[in-house]
Amino acid sequence: MTTIALIVAAGKGLRSGMSFPKQYAEIAGKTILRRSIDAFLEHPSVDNVCVVISEADMALYDDATKDLDLLPAVIGGATRQESVRNGLESLTDLSPEFVLIHDAARPFVSEALISRCLEKLQIGQAVLPTLPLTDSLKTFSDGRITGSVNRDEIVAAQTPQGFAFAHILAAHRTFDGENLTDDTALAARAGIEVLMVGGEPINFKITMAEDMATAERHILKSLGDIRTGYGFDVHAFEAGTSVWLGGIEIPHKKKLKGHSDADVALHALTDALLGAIAAGDIGVHFPPSDPKWKGAASESFLSHAARLVAEKGGIVSHVDLTIICEEPKIGPHRAAIMERIADILKIQTDRVSVKGTTTEKLGFAGRGEGIAAQAVATVRLPE
Ligand code: CTP
Ligand code: MG
Repeated sequence: MTTIALIVAAGKGLRSGMSFPKQYAEIAGKTILRRSIDAFLEHPSVDNVCVVISEADMALYDDATKDLDLLPAVIGGATRQESVRNGLESLTDLSPEFVLIHDAARPFVSEALISRCLEKLQIGQAVLPTLPLTDSLKTFSDGRITGSVNRDEIVAAQTPQGFAFAHILAAHRTFDGENLTDDTALAARAGIEVLMVGGEPINFKITMAEDMATAERHILKSLGDIRTGYGFDVHAFEAGTSVWLGGIEIPHKKKLKGHSDADVALHALTDALLGAIAAGDIGVHFPPSDPKWKGAASESFLSHAARLVAEKGGIVSHVDLTIICEEPKIGPHRAAIMERIADILKIQTDRVSVKGTTTEKLGFAGRGEGIAAQAVATVRLPE
């Protein structure tokens, strides 16, 4: 008996006001679509996941799912109903027993909710997660209230909606070309009894711009293990024409000596991130004795450390970098370095601080023999 999750992500997200479809927007470093997919991939009773996308979003989709083992993506249609239909048709060869149809725009679907839907499918052909409504409900016309609706007879419908695959496929074929916004509506039209299970308030559909902020707050609340890491590094100058500093190349009368590109700033930052997750230091992950790292771009060290944070389910909240040298002057390059680091860490630029300072001509930095860098990183991990 197989169960396939069919995630519809072919909408344009117009109501969100974003310049691209909302499902590809990141919340705390992970796209909405990816969060939805992961919820089903990680569920022990879901065998496979198939995503319905818009042809125009192919590159965004590939980027959001590159390391995942999914069924081939299916191209959706102009309406949600058409997108689901295309998805269901693509599964006919696999002919699963059950299908769970889910909106990509509901990234917080829980393992418990998926389980509840699957359990109910043991005794019925269609399952709908619902939520009671708490506000009084009214009908209106032309700016005036025309009546009241009995709240006790009404619930709000969520996804995933679970079905015996053959039944929902047949319903979609029968009611082709209509524009029903959820699949239990089609099932009911086809005479299939729809059973209710309890939905979850957090399983809300990201629809409007303000829903993004609510979603971000929800994730940040769950990342309450706040860690700080510190990093320090020094590289000496040798003959050359430019230095790599903070991920950018700056013309200079000398270069920094080192096995990699000797980007002292990114090395300090990498150590700060590794420190925050207690994962050793840069030398453990990229031994200087290994010829593989000769001339390596240090951004790969930093993105590796950021990946380790992400693998722990965490995010980089903030980094603060101080570059200590007489020359080159950091000020003119500060904005470019901040942007570069934000880009490597995939965080907003206002979460990156870069400062330059001298040692008043004292010590090795003061004598222009090399550059030192110090960094502090703040990381948020799940509790
Ligand atoms: N969807 C789809 N194909 C469509 C329309 C919607 O696959 N032609 C998907 C959306 O990607 C979303 C889910 O159906 O995951 C629920 O739709 P909705 O929240 O309305 O998303 P959008 O249609 O993208 O947003 P909007 O209505 O604001 O444009
Ligand atoms: Mg829509």
